[in-house]
Amino acid sequence: MPASTLANLRILLGVSGGIAAYKAAELTRRLREAGAELRVVLTENAARFVTPLTFQALSGAPVRMSLWDESAEAAMGHIELARWAERILIAPASADLIARLAHGLADDLLTTVCLASAAPLALAPAMNQQMWAHPATQANLDRLRARGVSVLGPASGSQACGEFGAGRLLEAEQLVAELAALHGPRRLAGVRVLVSAGPTYEDIDPVRFIGNRSSGRMGFAVAQAAAEQGASVHLVAGPVHLPTPAGVIRRDVRSAREMREAVMQQIPQCDIFISAAAVGDYRPGEVAAHKLKKRGRALTLTLAENPDILGEIAARTSRPFLVGFAAETRDLETYARAKLERKRLDLIAANRVGDGQGFDAADNELLLLWPGGRELLPRADKLALARALIARVAALRTAARAAPARRRRP
Ligand code: CTP
Repeated sequence: MPASTLANLRILLGVSGGIAAYKAAELTRRLREAGAELRVVLTENAARFVTPLTFQALSGAPVRMSLWDESAEAAMGHIELARWAERILIAPASADLIARLAHGLADDLLTTVCLASAAPLALAPAMNQQMWAHPATQANLDRLRARGVSVLGPASGSQACGEFGAGRLLEAEQLVAELAALHGPRRLAGVRVLVSAGPTYEDIDPVRFIGNRSSGRMGFAVAQAAAEQGASVHLVAGPVHLPTPAGVIRRDVRSAREMREAVMQQIPQCDIFISAAAVGDYRPGEVAAHKLKKRGRALTLTLAENPDILGEIAARTSRPFLVGFAAETRDLETYARAKLERKRLDLIAANRVGDGQGFDAADNELLLLWPGGRELLPRADKLALARALIARVAALRTAARAAPARRRRP
């Protein structure tokens, strides 16, 4: 999405206290370059790291900090400022600011404006990796996401505090691109999308199962990205510990056969099916009614084959636009292209797994393949990849609908 979608957009940039506040200066410059009209609000703590003067010079408008500044309130009161904004972006968003927003506090100018504004809110968190991982911070973010707040990043890497991990502010260029993507035309308005995500668990007995290492994060990010583009999204999720993205209807399942049933129920009502689940190919032939006991010798399990959900749908004459995933440890492109053709898919998203890549990692790299085309999405967080994948799906589907004869392959 070109950054020009931000032209003339009235953006209120909030800057909270943290060492990453200095990066907000570069962001201010980039947002102006993209044509946005800017007002900057600093929290008191942000002003300990950066000066209002910097932002005034870069934004071309007076910078606000306090609810109690009489002259500023006389020029543009905080309610007027809240109404003026068409978008609010807070970068960096500190753990403290996120907590205050999650609880609806209005104890300074920035939180008051957020509460008083109907503008969509996006947060770009930046903090120490331990603070980011803390359940309190994650619960606050879940609350905000459930209210439709967009969370951009954070990135992973070395931190100003000397530690390494998730919590770095996204680069200014990426923030501008993500904001433009959020604001651009909704490319799947009125389209019905079904996404499967996560692993499947196949029970051996009442306490044991065969599973896999899928976290479900990629599928959940795809569901979120589709919902952001205006699609009505159903998500069928295997056993995962992830919050449901805003606006998405979710059904939880456990085994491959349960997943098949839930997916098949939705298929007739969907336009696009994105099969991101890591469906177990096999299950124990029978599930023991009671816990299996040790018997001092090797145990042989006989496995039965699970249904191939995507394969079954692909074989139908009337089928939605189909997107599969391929996780491979080697010969990525060759295997993925073979899978695309064998399953007669419209698009396949292939990624390398193993050696810390893929399933458990927050970042990933995706190779998109479709009949007659390819696109490599370089390493990025899963939400950024999901947004790029959805953009490609929307473009291919539009092209296929424009030329339906070419889509049918023998
Ligand atoms: N899939 C499915 N049902 C299965 C297995 C896989 O719907 N029982 C879907 C996955 O969600 C994914 C795609 O098929 O979108 C590719 O899955 P994968 O298991 O990698 O492909 P296979 O064709 O089973 O090949 P292999 O296991 O040999 O790599």
